[in-house]
Amino acid sequence: MKTFESCFGKLAYESMAHVFHFKCEQGMELSISNYGATITALRIPDREGKLIDIVAGFDNLKDYQNSDFYFGASIGRYANRIANGSFTIDGKTYQLEKNEKRTQLHGGEDGFHRKLWDATLFKNPDNTILKLQYLSPDQEAGFPGNLKATITFTIWDTNSFAIDYEAETDQATHVNFSNHSYFNLSGFTEDAGSHELAVDAFGYLELNSNQLPTGKMIETPGTVFDFYKLTLLSERNIPNNYPLDYCFVIDKTDSSKDPDAILYHPKTGIKLRIFTTQPGIQVYSSNFLDGSMTGHQGVSYQKHSAICLETQHFPDSPNQPEFPSTLLLPGEKYHQQTRYFFETN
Ligand code: BGC
Repeated sequence: MKTFESCFGKLAYESMAHVFHFKCEQGMELSISNYGATITALRIPDREGKLIDIVAGFDNLKDYQNSDFYFGASIGRYANRIANGSFTIDGKTYQLEKNEKRTQLHGGEDGFHRKLWDATLFKNPDNTILKLQYLSPDQEAGFPGNLKATITFTIWDTNSFAIDYEAETDQATHVNFSNHSYFNLSGFTEDAGSHELAVDAFGYLELNSNQLPTGKMIETPGTVFDFYKLTLLSERNIPNNYPLDYCFVIDKTDSSKDPDAILYHPKTGIKLRIFTTQPGIQVYSSNFLDGSMTGHQGVSYQKHSAICLETQHFPDSPNQPEFPSTLLLPGEKYHQQTRYFFETN
């Protein structure tokens, strides 16, 4: 694997953001910045061997600083929404910073996606590792506890990579990390509807009008949200009449080695298989993209032009006692992993 580093741009206090580039033997090219622990570019060969840009991203730091779309970013401390931007632990209520009218979304205005992470590179015989670390101080965005966060990207020459999310705290707190890459396996020549999607999920979480879970899971078998088999999204009229922005409940009872999600583009032949330890996956058909941002190769990212597959714990878990817990206590280690495998067929 070939690896090189380039400067991305200067932040406040003269600190410099970098991008780490990985060129794999089987063709994958992955770029990751320590600004926001962000996947800034991902290229995969199509059937003809031509490299296709399959994630939304920018070539310069300024555009990331000016964008509210979280392109490729690591999300923390808490992915998705927390009702009223608040939760209670041991009788003490914490008011988080809100960045939506009634909720906190993706860790607040200045969440992990806007932090500069310390980067260390390890070159091993079998893989290359980029370890990114950030110490989130007590009360940052309102969250309790000093939180030591580590996000590790492990990259293999076989067109695959893993993201490991780890954290430790010195006070009880809630954590839920994710990655917010916008995938388009046609290279943004066709929209989300031209993709085939499979999600190994038996249900999705019902939402209220503030896009918060009601606590109820709706079963998917036999409905338009049944993605047990690879399904062409346009055939389901998704994303036109059913824009996707739901947390699917991954079938963890399924002991098969099948992926938790698959995204495929019939024209380029590029297939992404995702495996995760997380209980949920937020499938989001980029409903809020509006063409206002132009990225790699002059592409202007339009509504429904990509699909995000954000593996994570369930939204608003701190306020939903029935959901799997996101509480992290001192002395405990938070660890989640998501693996991404690409092939072309
Ligand atoms: C959420 C959307 C939100 C978007 C912002 C997604 O993860 O599910 O509701 O608008 O992120 O980019």
